[in-house]
Amino acid sequence: MQTIDLEITSNIGRITLNAPDKLNALSEAMWGEVPKLVAAAEADERVRVIVLSGAGNRAFSAGADISEFAEARSGTRAAHYNKLNNEAFEALQNCRKPTISEIRGFCLGGGFLLALSTDLRLAAHGASFSLPPARLGLGFDVRWISPIVKGAAPHFVKEMLFTGARYSASEVERFGLLNHVVDEAKLSDKVLELATTIAANAPLTLENVKSAIDGLAMNDQSIDFKAQDELTRRCFDSEDYREGQAAFAEKRKPKFSGK
Ligand code: COA
Repeated sequence: MQTIDLEITSNIGRITLNAPDKLNALSEAMWGEVPKLVAAAEADERVRVIVLSGAGNRAFSAGADISEFAEARSGTRAAHYNKLNNEAFEALQNCRKPTISEIRGFCLGGGFLLALSTDLRLAAHGASFSLPPARLGLGFDVRWISPIVKGAAPHFVKEMLFTGARYSASEVERFGLLNHVVDEAKLSDKVLELATTIAANAPLTLENVKSAIDGLAMNDQSIDFKAQDELTRRCFDSEDYREGQAAFAEKRKPKFSGK
């Protein structure tokens, strides 16, 4: 079964995360597919706007597939996995065409970061959001925080990352991270209407303004990436990271030690 699809209808390229049994949690292979499908949609002259969504009505995406972490995201492989994450986020962030996330249900962790890598985000009222790395002992790359702080004030970003708690669509809209929140029954129509409006506009102007806005919003010159990457690596090498995965698999609360 294909776990991520690209479908082109009229001028809209729709990329769908398609693993509904796992709430569209992304496997290592799916992370690798994201840049390929974004590149395919970007290269296709018919496509003027790209929409990202999740299959089914329970989730946009519940984040990275935790069941793979022990194998695919530990030791020396953690850096490779992070690279795959970064390539997926950057493919969307650097895409020349406008991108929109259509969010219903859970939008968690890496799934939320994918949505944050698109230009616009529309969510259903029932959608729920979290950034749970601190509940799993995960390292969180500084590059992933950059698109969040472009939209939300640092105190909101800190609250989400410190607690790992679940937030409603209205709260996340108040944090500045959503364009519109609508009734679930109207979400697809609202996304289509917005995508169709944008698709009718001049592509070169869209590329021009997107590039200008992203360039002006960038503000990470003062970051010491080496030091930040070391803080991230330390998490992936920790006992707490292993405890986070064990607790998820055993459906219990983790006990963290700071080691
Ligand atoms: N990775 C792997 N599998 C996941 C997953 C993830 N991130 N999120 C959900 N799943 C799987 C569950 O293990 C379950 O599989 P099973 O049917 O084989 O047991 C299935 O998806 C349905 O999830 P379930 O937990 O039974 O649904 P729920 O409604 O009780 O809870 C969530 C939904 C989203 C609250 C819960 O699945 C969850 O906390 N997921 C992890 C979210 C997370 O921490 N993501 C960040 C990863 S970095």
